[in-house]
Amino acid sequence: ERGGYATFMEKEINDQPHAVADTLLGRTDESGALVLDEVRISEEQLRAVDKITVVACGTAAYAGMVAKYAIEHWARIPVEVALAHEFRYADPVVDERTLVVSISQSGETMDTLMAVKHARELGAVTVSICNTHGSTIPRESDAVLYTHAGPEIAVASTKAFLAQITAAYILGLYLAQLRGGSYAEDAQAVMRDLADMPAKIQDLLGRMDRVKEMAEFMADTRSVLFLGRNVGYPVAMEGALKLKELAYIHAEGFAAGELKHGPIALIDAGQPVFVIVPSPDTPHDLHKKVVSNIQEIRARGARTLVIAHDGDEDVEPFASEVIRIPACPPMLAPLLAIVPLQVFALQLSTAKGLDVDQPRNLAKSVTVE
Ligand code: M6R
Repeated sequence: ERGGYATFMEKEINDQPHAVADTLLGRTDESGALVLDEVRISEEQLRAVDKITVVACGTAAYAGMVAKYAIEHWARIPVEVALAHEFRYADPVVDERTLVVSISQSGETMDTLMAVKHARELGAVTVSICNTHGSTIPRESDAVLYTHAGPEIAVASTKAFLAQITAAYILGLYLAQLRGGSYAEDAQAVMRDLADMPAKIQDLLGRMDRVKEMAEFMADTRSVLFLGRNVGYPVAMEGALKLKELAYIHAEGFAAGELKHGPIALIDAGQPVFVIVPSPDTPHDLHKKVVSNIQEIRARGARTLVIAHDGDEDVEPFASEVIRIPACPPMLAPLLAIVPLQVFALQLSTAKGLDVDQPRNLAKSVTVE
């Protein structure tokens, strides 16, 4: 049942090209236009939406952060991301024109379910991005957009994360198309770029030997930091979460721009820091800004473990290690950049002799508040 792999997590990491490809299946018609048959909310209602709130927990909330960047960029609708348990017990500004998008692999997370129920009471329109057919959250929502990652058994989420991000892109592109903004025409081109991603993930999975070696050398590490900007920021957070869950190591993800506002004080000789570098053609000179962040921490002695696109030579002078990912459009890079971090956490956990699939104190689905 583990398909020849030692753990479910390893199998699920290797299933990721399929998780993305299957989630993309059947989302366009013959003309290339996006169709979302499962989203049973009238086009009129969707056009009237003036704000989106994503509610989720853990890894699903990091997928929600990627969704924020993508949906705001493509569909020009303001998106906020709320941890479901925080949303539920605050006074969220939500009404009939708010689209509340829940993201949940299991569809049974109590915190997320309660947030969805609360949103409905407040009059919001609710869509569930979910991996489990017939589970509770989609049943309690107005509409569902299923991810097709297949069953995820390992407690640490991997392929569901990629599928959730893919579904969030699809939703963003669909809303862009529907509302006719400047990205409406580009939506089809982005769908074509997305269709190339499974092959790139497959290519990347074949390059993980060095990452595994690094994890083995680092089995005694006490603390690891992760930095990213824009869509690289949620990837940094998710990379840190994987390491906490699987290897019980103190790990923290930051927005790289925040460094000088405090976290840079943590940097001393030998501190390992993963940095997720955006593609060189990212708007706003972000690539240059991240390269200078690497330079700043390297100057303070950090061990810089840099995740960069193929062909990006600017990072070499400041990197202790460069982990290459295939080149891709800036917005889609999370589907690649997270993979080495998943493999790193898996390998480090294995090197420490820990239970990869069933880390201590955790349950696969958290059905209590
Ligand atoms: O089933 P859900 O997606 O609602 O679960 C949400 C979180 O509990 C889950 O992502 C958790 O953070 C994972 N263990 C992360 O690997």
